Amino acid sequence: MVHNGIVENFLELKDELSSEGVIFNSDTDTETIVHLAEHHHAAGISFTEAARRTFKQIEGANVVLLMSTDEPDKIVTARIGNAGGVVIGLGENENYIASDIPAILEHTRKVIFLESKQMAIVTRDSVRIETLDGVEIKPEIHTINWDAVSAEKGEYRHFMQKEIHEQVRALTDTLAGRVDFKEGRIRLPELKLTPELAKKIQRIYITACGTAAYAGMVGKYLIEKIARIPVEVVIGSEFRYSDPIVDENTVVLAISQSGETADTLAAMEEGKRKGGIVWSIVNAVGSQAMRVADGYIAMQTGPEIGVASTKAFTAPLVDQYMLAILLADLRGVIDEQTRKQLVSDLRLVPDLAGRALDAESQIEKVAQALKDIKGCLYLGRGINMPIAYEGALKLKEISYIHAEGYPAGEMKHGPIALIDEEMPVICIAPKDPWHEKMISQIQQAKARGGMVVAVATEGDELIKEMADHVLWIPEAPWMLSPIITVLPLQLLAYHIATTRGLDVDQPRNLAKSVTVE
Ligand code: AGP
Repeated sequence: MVHNGIVENFLELKDELSSEGVIFNSDTDTETIVHLAEHHHAAGISFTEAARRTFKQIEGANVVLLMSTDEPDKIVTARIGNAGGVVIGLGENENYIASDIPAILEHTRKVIFLESKQMAIVTRDSVRIETLDGVEIKPEIHTINWDAVSAEKGEYRHFMQKEIHEQVRALTDTLAGRVDFKEGRIRLPELKLTPELAKKIQRIYITACGTAAYAGMVGKYLIEKIARIPVEVVIGSEFRYSDPIVDENTVVLAISQSGETADTLAAMEEGKRKGGIVWSIVNAVGSQAMRVADGYIAMQTGPEIGVASTKAFTAPLVDQYMLAILLADLRGVIDEQTRKQLVSDLRLVPDLAGRALDAESQIEKVAQALKDIKGCLYLGRGINMPIAYEGALKLKEISYIHAEGYPAGEMKHGPIALIDEEMPVICIAPKDPWHEKMISQIQQAKARGGMVVAVATEGDELIKEMADHVLWIPEAPWMLSPIITVLPLQLLAYHIATTRGLDVDQPRNLAKSVTVE
């Protein structure tokens, strides 16, 4: 079996199978899938039907591929939700299944893309596509004429768009192997965190640049709320000039996609020089920020090619959420029920992200309405305030439109003078503890003639009445909501920039990794 995703209901399925005598060797959701298929097959139904029943029983965003020794020349696969792609390559007396085109391009250029809630029964000389209810589907066969680079983009126009959609998989991958859903515990072995070390930490500095710094601002809320440790976010280029108060009880946590950002590395060096404990959350394996740290968390999102960071923003939000739970657990400041609930909520993330990204066509329409704006304000509060900064940065760096992220509560202290018909306001207003405050923010902006685009939770009738446009997201636990609220803003910036005919993957004046100070 091959599996990518998270089976949200695997504990229930595992209990049922265990009660029927099935022995498990691990605590993974993946093992539950194969036992479920085997259980159905052993009851006398065909391998294909056993696979189908299994696909229908598992919940959440998953891609599964099954084989059986009973029918070794057959592979059955299914895509459920947005957990990543399934590409079926059609060869001569051979067929292929892969998660992405580049893996099979050297063998065939004729492919079928599996849609969500579809399954394929593949042998060397036949491919049958069906719904999960067994209704045959005549698939569209695509001929891939791309060169290797554009094949990397798959069916997307730019790497940025592909990486925005890859977040469902990236979020699954950053969780992989780190979450014990049954015991409600987190494992981050590369951090080398012991209970003694966890208990002696008195302060955490999070240091990073650009988008990574905004991820750290969300991390501040999570670590302070869950682990009750004071956290201060200091951007990399300021850290070592601020004479930070660092000692052996201080953690300096760097966040960096490339792991080579000079300002962030300099901050890590300063933290080490002052005797602090230096950790990093890094995507590029083997990069300097990973090597020089006393411990690290790998983002595990796969390479990020687009200069504008997307999946390397949401993955560290999950990584910091997991870190906060681990710290709280080791410091003994969280009760078991709370800890188990926080861990259980992680199962929802990939599927919620996929559902938010499904709204791309509506977001593209809003982008059309905003494509000629001269400036824009992004407003947020609480844990979603950093999303205002990140949303504004996305728009600035790929569309060259000036945009400013601001704490919504600060508007009345001056910046509200900016709002008029020419200055649209993006209000990040999900169902979180600051929702009511954001409602009044929207009213204030409307009263001054501003066009309001709101990021809101599905079903929020009040905001639907008030805002000019709404970017809908599914309801999410509030501590995980920034992972979801940022997604429509990534797509909004992407579509505004592409509508303006700009080079989204390589914006002017920018580099993917700023290795100079
Ligand atoms: C974000 O879209 C930009 N590419 C930029 O702000 C980036 O986040 C920053 O330069 C930090 O890069 P790093 O994560 O590789 O350290």
